[in-house]
Amino acid sequence: MTTRTQQIRHYLMCKPSHFTVSYTINPWMEPANPTDTAKAVEQWQKLYDLYVELGHTVELVEPGEGLPDMVYTANGGFLIDGTAYAPKFRFTERAGEEPLFIDWFRENGYHVVVPQETNEGEGDFLLAGDVILAGTGFRSTGESHREVGEVFGKPVVSLTLVDPRFYHLDTALAILDPVVEPGAEVGVAYLPSAFDEESQKTLATLFPNAIHVSDEDGAVFGLNSASDGKNVIISPRAVGFKKQLEERGYNAITVDLSELLLGGGGIKCCTLELRGASA
Ligand code: ARG
Repeated sequence: MTTRTQQIRHYLMCKPSHFTVSYTINPWMEPANPTDTAKAVEQWQKLYDLYVELGHTVELVEPGEGLPDMVYTANGGFLIDGTAYAPKFRFTERAGEEPLFIDWFRENGYHVVVPQETNEGEGDFLLAGDVILAGTGFRSTGESHREVGEVFGKPVVSLTLVDPRFYHLDTALAILDPVVEPGAEVGVAYLPSAFDEESQKTLATLFPNAIHVSDEDGAVFGLNSASDGKNVIISPRAVGFKKQLEERGYNAITVDLSELLLGGGGIKCCTLELRGASA
């Protein structure tokens, strides 16, 4: 079996102290259903503790009052080599998060690029080797794909999402191992039916050995996972995906974020990778 090597990561998280579901901007959010903020914090803390235990560095941004979705820091930006491409949220409900993330990046020494185009950060942009995979269809626009490519000077592969349950790219596709030898294939898992036909063809060509997950595992946000190249943190409900990962030599670790799923987010949504100049 393939031996996997862990890469140490630098993450940004935000405690869900103000988490609740008070509006609907994705099909998972139902304001009539009660939420339990204390439980959300407790579940989130387990993810934080696990990252630290695995040796990763985790930074925290102060949660903004009246911004219940700020816990999903993956949408707070997209960072490569110390440059932070800031978000411009699709819905006004989340626009208040923009200055808070920008301030945090600036205070922590990142070069901030304020976008012209609507984009939701690492929710829709994933770095696969030297290529940016970019999702559109629900949140980030096609124009933001051009903009992110210009900002980082990297090729962008646009992928169109078609199933409203999987409205961000990181709900439908996971990068398992971005560090590759020249010519080798990036480790990827995805749910084919979440993409339009053309994007499915693109993915099949780019990643012929990718893991295809079942709709069942996708629907419990199995793909909304965080991998360090060896350890892959996933939802305990994604039982089929767990097996697939183990067959490929990854160490699957489960963390239950059921409370945060009420807002339509999971493990990856709560995790933003800070790719610094020295990283
Ligand atoms: N309620 C949030 C929204 O709809 C959830 C964001 C999930 N984040 C993610 N990276 N998929 O915007």
